[in-house]
Amino acid sequence: MSIEDRLSSRFPADFIWGVATSSFQIEGAAREDGKGESIWDRFCQVPGAIADASNGDMACEHYHRLDSDLDLIASLGVNAYRFSVSWPRVQPHGSGPWNGKGLDFYDRLVDGLLKRGIQPHMTLNHWDLPQALQDQGGWIERATMSRFVEYAQGMHQRLGDRLAAITTHNEPWVIAVLGHEQGIFAPGMKSRKTALQVAHHLLVSHGMAVQALRADGCQADLGIVLNLAPMVPATDSPEDAAAALKADAAGRRWYTDPLFLGRYPQEVWDELGADAPVVHDGDMAYTATPIDYLGVNYYSRQVISAQGPFDTKTSGLPLTEMGWEIYARGLTDLLLLLHQDYTLPNVLITENGGAFKDPVVDGQVHDADRTDYLRTHIAAVADAMDQGVPMGGYMVWSLMDNFEWSSGYAKRFGIVHVDYATQKRTLKDSARWYRQFLAECKSAQQADPGA
Ligand code: FCB
Repeated sequence: MSIEDRLSSRFPADFIWGVATSSFQIEGAAREDGKGESIWDRFCQVPGAIADASNGDMACEHYHRLDSDLDLIASLGVNAYRFSVSWPRVQPHGSGPWNGKGLDFYDRLVDGLLKRGIQPHMTLNHWDLPQALQDQGGWIERATMSRFVEYAQGMHQRLGDRLAAITTHNEPWVIAVLGHEQGIFAPGMKSRKTALQVAHHLLVSHGMAVQALRADGCQADLGIVLNLAPMVPATDSPEDAAAALKADAAGRRWYTDPLFLGRYPQEVWDELGADAPVVHDGDMAYTATPIDYLGVNYYSRQVISAQGPFDTKTSGLPLTEMGWEIYARGLTDLLLLLHQDYTLPNVLITENGGAFKDPVVDGQVHDADRTDYLRTHIAAVADAMDQGVPMGGYMVWSLMDNFEWSSGYAKRFGIVHVDYATQKRTLKDSARWYRQFLAECKSAQQADPGA
Protein backbone atom coordinates (compact mmCIF):
# COMPACT_ATOMS: atom_id res chain seq x y z
CA MET A 1 0.00 0.00 0.00
CA SER A 2 1.45 3.37 -0.98
CA ILE A 3 1.31 6.48 1.20
CA GLU A 4 -1.28 7.87 -1.23
CA ASP A 5 -3.46 4.80 -0.72
CA ARG A 6 -3.55 5.40 2.99
CA LEU A 7 -4.04 9.15 2.63
CA SER A 8 -6.80 8.83 0.05
CA SER A 9 -8.82 6.53 2.30
CA ARG A 10 -8.90 9.16 5.06
CA PHE A 11 -11.42 11.43 3.32
CA PRO A 12 -15.19 11.05 3.01
CA ALA A 13 -16.88 10.73 -0.36
CA ASP A 14 -18.47 14.18 -0.19
CA PHE A 15 -15.15 15.92 0.53
CA ILE A 16 -14.63 18.95 -1.72
CA TRP A 17 -11.42 18.79 -3.75
CA GLY A 18 -10.60 21.80 -5.82
CA VAL A 19 -8.18 24.20 -7.37
CA ALA A 20 -8.35 27.97 -6.85
CA THR A 21 -7.62 31.13 -8.83
CA SER A 22 -8.64 34.78 -8.75
CA SER A 23 -9.86 37.13 -11.46
CA PHE A 24 -7.05 39.70 -11.54
CA GLN A 25 -4.37 37.04 -11.37
CA ILE A 26 -5.48 35.06 -14.43
CA GLU A 27 -8.07 36.83 -16.60
CA GLY A 28 -6.15 39.52 -18.47
CA ALA A 29 -8.42 41.38 -20.94
CA ALA A 30 -8.04 44.32 -18.58
CA ARG A 31 -9.66 46.86 -20.87
CA GLU A 32 -11.91 44.69 -23.01
CA ASP A 33 -15.63 44.24 -23.42
CA GLY A 34 -16.50 47.17 -21.18
CA LYS A 35 -14.48 46.21 -18.10
CA GLY A 36 -13.81 49.12 -15.75
CA GLU A 37 -10.50 49.88 -14.06
CA SER A 38 -9.68 48.12 -10.79
CA ILE A 39 -7.40 49.32 -8.01
CA TRP A 40 -4.89 46.66 -9.07
CA ASP A 41 -4.87 47.94 -12.67
CA ARG A 42 -4.01 51.34 -11.19
CA PHE A 43 -1.52 50.08 -8.59
CA CYS A 44 0.50 48.18 -11.20
CA GLN A 45 1.31 51.54 -12.82
CA VAL A 46 3.07 52.82 -9.70
CA PRO A 47 6.82 52.68 -10.39
CA GLY A 48 8.43 50.00 -8.22
CA ALA A 49 5.15 48.55 -6.95
CA ILE A 50 5.50 45.26 -8.84
CA ALA A 51 8.82 43.40 -8.67
CA ASP A 52 9.08 42.74 -12.41
CA ALA A 53 7.18 45.91 -13.42
CA SER A 54 4.44 43.73 -14.87
CA ASN A 55 0.67 44.06 -14.67
CA GLY A 56 -2.54 42.11 -15.18
CA ASP A 57 -3.22 43.28 -18.75
CA MET A 58 -2.62 39.82 -20.22
CA ALA A 59 -1.99 37.54 -17.23
CA CYS A 60 -3.01 34.01 -18.31
CA GLU A 61 -5.49 35.35 -20.89
CA HIS A 62 -8.04 33.20 -19.15
CA TYR A 63 -10.81 35.53 -20.34
CA HIS A 64 -10.05 34.42 -23.90
CA ARG A 65 -9.24 30.81 -23.09
CA LEU A 66 -12.19 29.96 -20.93
CA ASP A 67 -13.25 26.74 -22.63
CA SER A 68 -9.82 25.18 -22.83
CA ASP A 69 -9.08 26.23 -19.24
CA LEU A 70 -12.33 24.59 -18.13
CA ASP A 71 -11.21 21.41 -19.88
CA LEU A 72 -7.89 21.72 -18.09
CA ILE A 73 -9.63 22.00 -14.70
CA ALA A 74 -11.84 19.02 -15.52
CA SER A 75 -8.82 16.97 -16.58
CA LEU A 76 -7.53 17.12 -13.00
CA GLY A 77 -10.55 15.27 -11.64
CA VAL A 78 -11.46 17.96 -9.10
CA ASN A 79 -15.08 18.34 -8.02
CA ALA A 80 -14.86 22.08 -7.23
CA TYR A 81 -13.30 25.21 -8.68
CA ARG A 82 -12.80 28.39 -6.69
CA PHE A 83 -12.73 31.54 -8.84
CA SER A 84 -13.41 35.19 -8.19
CA VAL A 85 -15.44 37.79 -10.04
CA SER A 86 -13.78 40.98 -11.18
CA TRP A 87 -16.23 43.53 -9.80
CA PRO A 88 -15.24 46.21 -12.37
CA ARG A 89 -15.77 43.69 -15.19
CA VAL A 90 -19.41 43.20 -14.22
CA GLN A 91 -20.09 46.68 -12.84
CA PRO A 92 -17.43 49.01 -14.25
CA HIS A 93 -17.94 51.85 -11.76
CA GLY A 94 -18.85 49.76 -8.71
CA SER A 95 -22.36 51.19 -8.78
CA GLY A 96 -24.92 51.92 -11.45
CA PRO A 97 -25.06 50.06 -14.75
CA TRP A 98 -24.02 46.45 -15.12
CA ASN A 99 -21.85 45.24 -17.98
CA GLY A 100 -23.67 42.52 -19.91
CA LYS A 101 -20.54 41.14 -21.57
CA GLY A 102 -18.80 40.81 -18.22
CA LEU A 103 -21.77 39.02 -16.69
CA ASP A 104 -21.93 36.73 -19.72
CA PHE A 105 -18.36 35.65 -19.10
CA TYR A 106 -19.13 34.43 -15.57
CA ASP A 107 -22.35 32.87 -16.81
CA ARG A 108 -20.36 30.82 -19.30
CA LEU A 109 -17.80 29.99 -16.62
CA VAL A 110 -20.42 28.68 -14.22
CA ASP A 111 -22.34 26.76 -16.88
CA GLY A 112 -19.08 25.32 -18.19
CA LEU A 113 -18.17 24.07 -14.73
CA LEU A 114 -21.58 22.51 -14.15
CA LYS A 115 -21.47 20.85 -17.56
CA ARG A 116 -18.20 19.23 -16.48
CA GLY A 117 -19.58 18.14 -13.10
CA ILE A 118 -17.58 20.71 -11.09
CA GLN A 119 -19.07 22.80 -8.25
CA PRO A 120 -18.62 26.56 -8.76
CA HIS A 121 -17.27 28.35 -5.65
CA MET A 122 -17.44 32.06 -6.33
CA THR A 123 -15.54 34.75 -4.43
CA LEU A 124 -16.97 38.26 -4.72
CA ASN A 125 -13.97 40.25 -3.56
CA HIS A 126 -10.49 38.96 -4.27
CA TRP A 127 -9.06 42.48 -4.00
CA ASP A 128 -9.80 44.08 -7.40
CA LEU A 129 -12.13 46.84 -6.20
CA PRO A 130 -13.42 49.17 -8.94
CA GLN A 131 -11.12 52.21 -9.06
CA ALA A 132 -14.23 54.40 -9.25
CA LEU A 133 -15.12 53.34 -5.70
CA GLN A 134 -11.53 53.91 -4.55
CA ASP A 135 -11.81 57.43 -5.93
CA GLN A 136 -14.65 57.91 -3.45
CA GLY A 137 -12.59 56.55 -0.56
CA GLY A 138 -12.84 52.80 -1.14
CA TRP A 139 -13.11 50.52 1.88
CA ILE A 140 -12.51 53.42 4.27
CA GLU A 141 -16.04 54.61 3.50
CA ARG A 142 -19.17 53.01 4.91
CA ALA A 143 -20.88 53.74 1.58
CA THR A 144 -18.64 51.09 -0.03
CA MET A 145 -20.31 48.50 2.22
CA SER A 146 -23.66 49.32 0.64
CA ARG A 147 -22.17 49.18 -2.85
CA PHE A 148 -20.72 45.75 -1.99
CA VAL A 149 -24.09 44.45 -0.83
CA GLU A 150 -25.69 45.62 -4.09
CA TYR A 151 -22.93 43.96 -6.07
CA ALA A 152 -23.39 40.72 -4.08
CA GLN A 153 -27.12 40.82 -4.73
CA GLY A 154 -26.62 41.48 -8.43
CA MET A 155 -24.25 38.52 -8.80
CA HIS A 156 -26.58 36.32 -6.80
CA GLN A 157 -29.50 37.31 -8.97
CA ARG A 158 -27.57 36.40 -12.09
CA LEU A 159 -25.74 33.24 -10.96
CA GLY A 160 -27.08 32.25 -7.55
CA ASP A 161 -29.22 29.38 -8.80
CA ARG A 162 -26.10 27.59 -10.07
CA LEU A 163 -23.47 28.26 -7.41
CA ALA A 164 -22.36 25.86 -4.67
CA ALA A 165 -20.75 28.57 -2.56
CA ILE A 166 -20.35 32.32 -2.37
CA THR A 167 -17.41 33.81 -0.48
CA THR A 168 -17.77 37.47 0.40
CA HIS A 169 -14.16 38.59 0.90
CA ASN A 170 -10.79 36.96 0.36
CA GLU A 171 -8.33 37.69 3.16
CA PRO A 172 -9.52 40.95 4.76
CA TRP A 173 -6.22 41.12 6.68
CA VAL A 174 -4.28 41.40 3.42
CA ILE A 175 -6.54 44.12 2.03
CA ALA A 176 -6.35 46.05 5.30
CA VAL A 177 -2.73 45.59 6.36
CA LEU A 178 -0.81 45.07 3.11
CA GLY A 179 -3.06 47.46 1.18
CA HIS A 180 -3.67 50.24 3.70
CA GLU A 181 -1.00 50.00 6.42
CA GLN A 182 2.14 48.68 4.72
CA GLY A 183 1.20 50.04 1.31
CA ILE A 184 2.76 47.15 -0.61
CA PHE A 185 -0.56 46.07 -2.17
CA ALA A 186 -3.29 48.15 -3.80
CA PRO A 187 -4.40 50.78 -3.03
CA GLY A 188 -0.97 51.47 -1.50
CA MET A 189 -1.83 53.41 1.65
CA LYS A 190 0.23 53.65 4.79
CA SER A 191 -1.84 54.25 7.88
CA ARG A 192 -2.67 51.83 10.69
CA LYS A 193 -5.80 53.77 11.56
CA THR A 194 -7.05 53.50 7.99
CA ALA A 195 -6.22 49.80 7.89
CA LEU A 196 -8.25 49.09 11.02
CA GLN A 197 -11.23 50.99 9.66
CA VAL A 198 -10.97 49.11 6.37
CA ALA A 199 -10.81 45.75 8.18
CA HIS A 200 -13.92 46.72 10.13
CA HIS A 201 -15.83 47.66 6.99
CA LEU A 202 -14.82 44.41 5.31
CA LEU A 203 -16.09 42.36 8.25
CA VAL A 204 -19.34 44.32 8.56
CA SER A 205 -20.02 44.29 4.82
CA HIS A 206 -19.41 40.55 4.83
CA GLY A 207 -22.22 40.09 7.37
CA MET A 208 -24.48 42.55 5.56
CA ALA A 209 -24.03 40.70 2.30
CA VAL A 210 -24.68 37.31 3.90
CA GLN A 211 -27.91 38.61 5.44
CA ALA A 212 -29.02 40.27 2.21
CA LEU A 213 -28.36 37.15 0.14
CA ARG A 214 -30.21 34.94 2.63
CA ALA A 215 -33.14 37.38 2.49
CA ASP A 216 -33.01 37.05 -1.30
CA GLY A 217 -33.45 33.29 -0.93
CA CYS A 218 -29.84 32.30 -1.65
CA GLN A 219 -29.38 28.52 -1.77
CA ALA A 220 -25.60 28.57 -2.10
CA ASP A 221 -23.41 28.16 0.98
CA LEU A 222 -22.15 31.50 2.27
CA GLY A 223 -18.81 32.19 3.91
CA ILE A 224 -15.64 34.24 4.14
CA VAL A 225 -11.99 33.37 3.50
CA LEU A 226 -9.24 34.33 5.95
CA ASN A 227 -5.47 33.98 5.73
CA LEU A 228 -4.41 32.41 8.99
CA ALA A 229 -1.23 31.06 10.53
CA PRO A 230 -0.32 29.68 13.90
CA MET A 231 1.94 32.17 15.72
CA VAL A 232 4.88 30.24 17.13
CA PRO A 233 7.24 31.81 19.72
CA ALA A 234 10.84 31.96 18.42
CA THR A 235 12.27 30.67 21.73
CA ASP A 236 10.81 29.40 24.97
CA SER A 237 11.41 32.73 26.70
CA PRO A 238 8.35 34.27 28.41
CA GLU A 239 8.85 37.41 26.27
CA ASP A 240 8.50 35.47 23.02
CA ALA A 241 5.51 33.56 24.38
CA ALA A 242 3.80 36.83 25.25
CA ALA A 243 4.68 38.33 21.86
CA ALA A 244 3.23 35.29 20.06
CA LEU A 245 -0.03 35.54 22.01
CA LYS A 246 -0.24 39.20 21.14
CA ALA A 247 0.43 38.54 17.46
CA ASP A 248 -2.25 35.85 17.48
CA ALA A 249 -4.79 38.25 19.00
CA ALA A 250 -3.97 41.06 16.55
CA GLY A 251 -3.54 38.96 13.40
CA ARG A 252 -5.99 36.08 13.79
CA ARG A 253 -8.51 36.78 16.56
CA TRP A 254 -9.05 40.36 15.37
CA TYR A 255 -10.84 38.68 12.45
CA THR A 256 -12.20 35.46 13.93
CA ASP A 257 -13.58 36.88 17.21
CA PRO A 258 -15.90 39.33 15.39
CA LEU A 259 -17.05 36.52 13.09
CA PHE A 260 -17.72 33.93 15.78
CA LEU A 261 -18.09 35.92 19.02
CA GLY A 262 -19.32 39.29 17.77
CA ARG A 263 -16.57 41.33 19.43
CA TYR A 264 -12.97 42.44 18.98
CA PRO A 265 -10.30 41.05 21.32
CA GLN A 266 -10.35 43.54 24.21
CA GLU A 267 -6.62 43.37 24.93
CA VAL A 268 -5.85 44.46 21.36
CA TRP A 269 -8.52 47.16 21.36
CA ASP A 270 -7.15 48.63 24.62
CA GLU A 271 -3.79 49.29 22.99
CA LEU A 272 -5.08 50.94 19.83
CA GLY A 273 -5.88 54.35 21.28
CA ALA A 274 -6.83 56.78 18.53
CA ASP A 275 -6.29 54.11 15.87
CA ALA A 276 -9.32 52.09 17.02
CA PRO A 277 -11.96 51.79 14.31
CA VAL A 278 -15.27 53.64 14.45
CA VAL A 279 -17.89 50.99 15.20
CA HIS A 280 -21.57 51.78 14.78
CA ASP A 281 -24.42 50.24 16.76
CA GLY A 282 -25.36 46.95 15.20
CA ASP A 283 -22.04 46.46 13.37
CA MET A 284 -20.91 43.55 15.51
CA ALA A 285 -24.24 41.79 15.05
CA TYR A 286 -23.49 41.90 11.33
CA THR A 287 -19.96 40.55 11.70
CA ALA A 288 -21.30 37.63 13.78
CA THR A 289 -23.92 36.61 11.21
CA PRO A 290 -23.84 32.79 11.11
CA ILE A 291 -21.98 31.45 8.07
CA ASP A 292 -22.08 28.08 6.33
CA TYR A 293 -18.31 27.78 6.06
CA LEU A 294 -15.05 29.36 7.05
CA GLY A 295 -12.46 29.37 4.28
CA VAL A 296 -8.89 29.10 5.52
CA ASN A 297 -5.91 30.00 3.34
CA TYR A 298 -2.82 28.41 4.82
CA TYR A 299 0.74 28.75 3.55
CA SER A 300 3.02 28.70 6.60
CA ARG A 301 3.40 29.31 10.30
CA GLN A 302 4.63 32.63 11.62
CA VAL A 303 7.52 32.71 14.04
CA ILE A 304 7.22 35.54 16.55
CA SER A 305 10.11 37.04 18.44
CA ALA A 306 9.87 39.82 21.03
CA GLN A 307 13.10 41.20 19.49
CA GLY A 308 11.45 42.11 16.19
CA PRO A 309 10.84 40.49 12.81
CA PHE A 310 12.02 36.88 12.53
CA ASP A 311 14.25 35.92 9.60
CA THR A 312 12.88 32.63 8.22
CA LYS A 313 16.30 31.88 6.72
CA THR A 314 17.56 31.19 10.25
CA SER A 315 14.81 28.72 11.12
CA GLY A 316 16.35 25.59 9.63
CA LEU A 317 13.09 24.64 7.91
CA PRO A 318 12.95 24.37 4.11
CA LEU A 319 11.61 27.53 2.46
CA THR A 320 9.53 28.12 -0.65
CA GLU A 321 10.54 30.67 -3.28
CA MET A 322 8.52 33.25 -1.33
CA GLY A 323 10.83 32.66 1.64
CA TRP A 324 7.97 31.06 3.53
CA GLU A 325 8.78 28.11 5.81
CA ILE A 326 7.34 24.76 4.81
CA TYR A 327 5.57 23.58 7.93
CA ALA A 328 2.63 21.27 7.34
CA ARG A 329 2.03 20.54 11.02
CA GLY A 330 1.17 24.19 11.45
CA LEU A 331 -2.00 23.60 9.46
CA THR A 332 -3.18 20.94 11.90
CA ASP A 333 -2.19 23.16 14.84
CA LEU A 334 -4.06 26.11 13.37
CA LEU A 335 -7.22 24.10 12.70
CA LEU A 336 -7.17 22.66 16.22
CA LEU A 337 -6.72 26.13 17.68
CA LEU A 338 -9.75 27.42 15.77
CA HIS A 339 -11.74 24.36 16.84
CA GLN A 340 -10.81 25.00 20.45
CA ASP A 341 -11.66 28.72 20.35
CA TYR A 342 -15.00 28.61 18.51
CA THR A 343 -17.97 26.53 17.47
CA LEU A 344 -16.87 26.25 13.86
CA PRO A 345 -19.04 25.86 10.80
CA ASN A 346 -17.80 23.65 7.99
CA VAL A 347 -14.14 24.51 7.31
CA LEU A 348 -12.69 24.60 3.81
CA ILE A 349 -9.02 25.00 3.05
CA THR A 350 -9.60 27.50 0.26
CA GLU A 351 -5.92 27.98 -0.60
CA ASN A 352 -2.78 25.98 0.06
CA GLY A 353 0.31 25.60 -2.06
CA GLY A 354 3.78 26.92 -2.71
CA ALA A 355 6.00 28.78 -5.15
CA PHE A 356 8.96 26.70 -6.29
CA LYS A 357 11.65 27.06 -8.97
CA ASP A 358 9.95 24.78 -11.50
CA PRO A 359 12.47 24.49 -14.32
CA VAL A 360 10.94 23.24 -17.57
CA VAL A 361 13.04 20.36 -18.87
CA ASP A 362 12.07 18.81 -22.20
CA GLY A 363 8.56 20.17 -21.83
CA GLN A 364 8.11 18.77 -18.33
CA VAL A 365 8.19 20.26 -14.87
CA HIS A 366 9.45 17.92 -12.17
CA ASP A 367 8.26 19.85 -9.13
CA ALA A 368 8.78 17.16 -6.51
CA ASP A 369 8.94 19.79 -3.75
CA ARG A 370 5.44 21.03 -4.60
CA THR A 371 4.07 17.49 -4.65
CA ASP A 372 5.62 16.91 -1.21
CA TYR A 373 4.14 20.17 -0.01
CA LEU A 374 0.65 19.23 -1.17
CA ARG A 375 0.84 15.67 0.14
CA THR A 376 2.03 16.68 3.61
CA HIS A 377 -0.52 19.48 3.91
CA ILE A 378 -3.38 17.24 2.80
CA ALA A 379 -2.25 14.78 5.48
CA ALA A 380 -2.29 17.66 7.98
CA VAL A 381 -5.93 18.31 7.05
CA ALA A 382 -6.75 14.63 7.63
CA ASP A 383 -5.02 14.83 11.03
CA ALA A 384 -7.20 17.78 12.03
CA MET A 385 -10.30 16.01 10.78
CA ASP A 386 -9.40 12.93 12.84
CA GLN A 387 -9.30 15.19 15.88
CA GLY A 388 -12.79 16.50 15.32
CA VAL A 389 -12.35 19.64 13.19
CA PRO A 390 -15.32 19.85 10.78
CA MET A 391 -13.28 19.77 7.57
CA GLY A 392 -15.26 19.95 4.35
CA GLY A 393 -12.76 20.53 1.58
CA TYR A 394 -9.33 21.41 0.27
CA MET A 395 -8.28 23.54 -2.70
CA VAL A 396 -4.83 23.95 -4.16
CA TRP A 397 -3.46 27.40 -4.82
CA SER A 398 -3.24 27.53 -7.69
CA LEU A 399 -4.64 25.90 -10.80
CA MET A 400 -1.93 27.55 -12.89
CA ASP A 401 0.97 29.97 -12.61
CA ASN A 402 -0.33 33.51 -12.51
CA PHE A 403 0.22 37.14 -11.54
CA GLU A 404 1.45 36.94 -7.95
CA TRP A 405 0.56 40.51 -6.93
CA SER A 406 3.63 42.60 -6.02
CA SER A 407 5.89 39.67 -6.97
CA GLY A 408 4.63 39.83 -10.55
CA TYR A 409 5.06 36.70 -12.68
CA ALA A 410 8.35 35.62 -11.13
CA LYS A 411 6.75 33.47 -8.44
CA ARG A 412 4.95 30.42 -9.73
CA PHE A 413 2.28 28.75 -7.59
CA GLY A 414 0.54 26.71 -10.29
CA ILE A 415 0.25 22.96 -10.53
CA VAL A 416 -0.02 23.79 -14.22
CA HIS A 417 2.89 25.66 -15.81
CA VAL A 418 2.12 28.70 -17.96
CA ASP A 419 4.51 29.84 -20.66
CA TYR A 420 3.55 33.52 -20.77
CA ALA A 421 5.02 34.06 -24.24
CA THR A 422 2.82 31.41 -25.85
CA GLN A 423 0.16 30.91 -23.11
CA LYS A 424 0.85 27.20 -23.34
CA ARG A 425 -0.31 25.26 -20.29
CA THR A 426 1.70 22.23 -19.18
CA LEU A 427 0.73 19.95 -16.34
CA LYS A 428 3.53 19.86 -13.77
CA ASP A 429 4.29 16.59 -12.00
CA SER A 430 2.33 17.94 -9.00
CA ALA A 431 -0.81 18.22 -11.15
CA ARG A 432 -0.36 14.64 -12.28
CA TRP A 433 0.11 13.60 -8.66
CA TYR A 434 -3.04 15.48 -7.57
CA ARG A 435 -5.05 13.90 -10.38
CA GLN A 436 -3.81 10.44 -9.40
CA PHE A 437 -4.49 11.13 -5.72
CA LEU A 438 -8.06 12.26 -6.45
CA ALA A 439 -8.63 9.14 -8.54
CA GLU A 440 -7.42 7.07 -5.59
CA CYS A 441 -9.78 8.92 -3.25
CA LYS A 442 -12.62 7.93 -5.57
CA SER A 443 -11.65 4.28 -5.74
CA ALA A 444 -11.05 4.15 -1.98
CA GLN A 445 -14.64 5.32 -1.49
CA GLN A 446 -16.00 2.85 -4.00
CA ALA A 447 -14.19 0.06 -2.15
CA ASP A 448 -15.53 1.31 1.18
CA PRO A 449 -18.68 3.38 0.61
CA GLY A 450 -19.15 3.83 4.34
CA ALA A 451 -15.95 5.88 4.63
C1 FCB B 1 -2.93 34.60 -1.02
C2 FCB B 1 -3.87 35.17 -2.08
C3 FCB B 1 -3.75 34.51 -3.42
C4 FCB B 1 -2.32 34.17 -3.76
C5 FCB B 1 -1.64 33.46 -2.63
C6 FCB B 1 -0.21 33.04 -2.91
O1 FCB B 1 -2.72 35.56 -0.05
O2 FCB B 1 -5.20 35.06 -1.66
O3 FCB B 1 -4.34 35.37 -4.35
O4 FCB B 1 -1.65 35.27 -4.19
O5 FCB B 1 -1.68 34.24 -1.48
